[in-house]
Amino acid sequence: MSFYVTTPIFYVNAQPHLGHAYTTIIADTISRFKILSGEKVRFQTGTDEHGDKIAEAASKAGETPQEYVDRISDLFREAWPPLSIRPDRFIRTTDPAHIRTVQEILQKVHAQGDIYFSEYSGLYCKGCERFLTEKELVDGNCPDHLTPPSPITEQNYFFRMSKYQTWLIDHIQANPDFITPERYRNEVLSFLKEPLEDLCISRPTSRLTWGIPLPFDDKFVTYVWFDALINYLTGLGYPDGADFAEFWSGAEHVIAKDILKPHAIYWPTILRSLGLPPFRRLHVHGYWNINDTKMSKSLGNVVRPAELVEKFGADATRYFLLREMTFGLDSSFSYEALLTRQNTDLANDLGNLFSRSLTMVNNFCAGRVPQPGEPETADSEMRAAALAMLVEYREQMENFAFSRALQAVWKVIGLANKYIVTNAPWELAKLPEKQERLATVLYTLLETLRLITLTMHPIMPETAGKMSGSLGLSGNGDLRSQGEWGLITPGSAINLGPPLFPRLDHKKPNQPAPPPTAKKEKKTTRTQDKPGSAAAPDQGLISFEQFQQLDLRVAEIVAAEKVAKSDRLLKLTVKAPGERTIVAGIAEHYQPEDLVGRQVIIVANLKPAKLMGITSQGMVLAAKEGDRLVVTGLSGPVTPGSKVA
Ligand code: MSP
Repeated sequence: MSFYVTTPIFYVNAQPHLGHAYTTIIADTISRFKILSGEKVRFQTGTDEHGDKIAEAASKAGETPQEYVDRISDLFREAWPPLSIRPDRFIRTTDPAHIRTVQEILQKVHAQGDIYFSEYSGLYCKGCERFLTEKELVDGNCPDHLTPPSPITEQNYFFRMSKYQTWLIDHIQANPDFITPERYRNEVLSFLKEPLEDLCISRPTSRLTWGIPLPFDDKFVTYVWFDALINYLTGLGYPDGADFAEFWSGAEHVIAKDILKPHAIYWPTILRSLGLPPFRRLHVHGYWNINDTKMSKSLGNVVRPAELVEKFGADATRYFLLREMTFGLDSSFSYEALLTRQNTDLANDLGNLFSRSLTMVNNFCAGRVPQPGEPETADSEMRAAALAMLVEYREQMENFAFSRALQAVWKVIGLANKYIVTNAPWELAKLPEKQERLATVLYTLLETLRLITLTMHPIMPETAGKMSGSLGLSGNGDLRSQGEWGLITPGSAINLGPPLFPRLDHKKPNQPAPPPTAKKEKKTTRTQDKPGSAAAPDQGLISFEQFQQLDLRVAEIVAAEKVAKSDRLLKLTVKAPGERTIVAGIAEHYQPEDLVGRQVIIVANLKPAKLMGITSQGMVLAAKEGDRLVVTGLSGPVTPGSKVA
């Protein structure tokens, strides 16, 4: 099967913003999903560069139209890679190949009698670049631009769109998913209940010169919508290109509701006149508002894709947009909402599941995929849920129901987190007779994670790559061959990486969150925590004697629990060789159960200090990398209490 997905080509009178990014992320996601499903894919986006609006914007900017469109088109082209969007083709309507294709098509449609010359009086909206009907106006204004259209009378060329009205109605009725979601299909059908007018497809050069000259009359340029829609054919090399022959039958366009009419009415009738089959499906999404207000330059609330990437990264931005908007309906964007999803869905749910599962495989199975034994009911249920997730995910993705597809995945993430708690692998690890059971539980978790990873390739490509790497998998995933249970190989190595997602601070989204109780805890922090305060080193160096004052020991963690009312502290009971309590500030980096059984290095002769009412007798050494803490370990087992020097 071949699949061709397009975004609208964006007007270069504005810089890329959240709305453009959303449509383009949708197209990228579906293109990656189809590749994951084994289909051959072409994905095209680009810029729409002719017409009144662009000519006006260029003159305002004090540039020639060509200089201006070159500059803004580059901003669009450069906006996509940082969001992990990778189109196969970025098309511009000023490309010579496109100009040629538009002129060839005009010639063809004209030659067969579907274009005629006539005088027309109508109400023209510059913002929409089209004539509006009386019926479309709200209080005499264009409903989208809230400005009154101007009455214009002029001679122009017209496309016989009315000739194809009956065919179009029949086609929409015979193909229920030609326009989706259904509300937009109904909107188009209801519009088609009225007689369709012919479409004015030219502008006199006396009024506008920035356009493609009509091949049969050089006193006119092509109407920008007739020019723009044809980009979908140019990009495939119409009429003779191999891509056109292979991909046109799989054409699916993604747009927002603002440009429904040109795509659902003008475009299929132009294709019909050309003798071409219509596109396969038109997917129409709603509008992103900002905190429930329309996004607009004058309100100063335009959200730029680069800002989102800088604050949250490509993957969290993609996840949020896909999860938050029900495809077809309007949605409200806020930084708060994005931050909450980053911290809960990504860092807490997915990130924790992943790191605690891999940490346990690391600690209890020497970092290798264990050989599972006979599954018990809980394991079979987990397996059934993971496989059902895959079925649901595929179905929803096919229907552009991205939010539902993600809900299906997160349901299984929740189940897997519960499965860990119920089956308590850290308890099983303590009992020699439970080793096979432990292996089955961890294997079940790894398989669940492998299937979750598969679903994430189209959504969060970078994270899916990291997850695959940690699970020891290669390649970009394949739903056809890897969507079954039991494919991760026992004995293969896993690689415990850094956390997948940082928790972000609500005040400064691009900063890691300080522990909410940090201030309180600071008061009780021991002074010895500040290295160097006692040693007063010379140029940062200490003597051997000074080093010898430190009593470093191997300690084995025998119990670990969270300290009540603290997000940062864990109470550890360690053997070194006698048992002692150490309070460590590592709760944001480790689950208590992941630590039990580990051997760490401690400072054993630190003056006891009280932290949150608990006396801490020593300090666990940990490496600090940015906001990450990794406790020290040893390359082999050592008798607890052994001296480290
Ligand atoms: N140039 C025409 C399209 C020609 S396609 C043959 C055009 N360009 S546009 O720059 O105005 O882009 C409109 C599209 O941008 C919408 O259909 C949608 O894809 C995206 N969005 C612009 N603002 C948006 C929101 N606020 N929310 C969601 N998407 C929006 O129309």
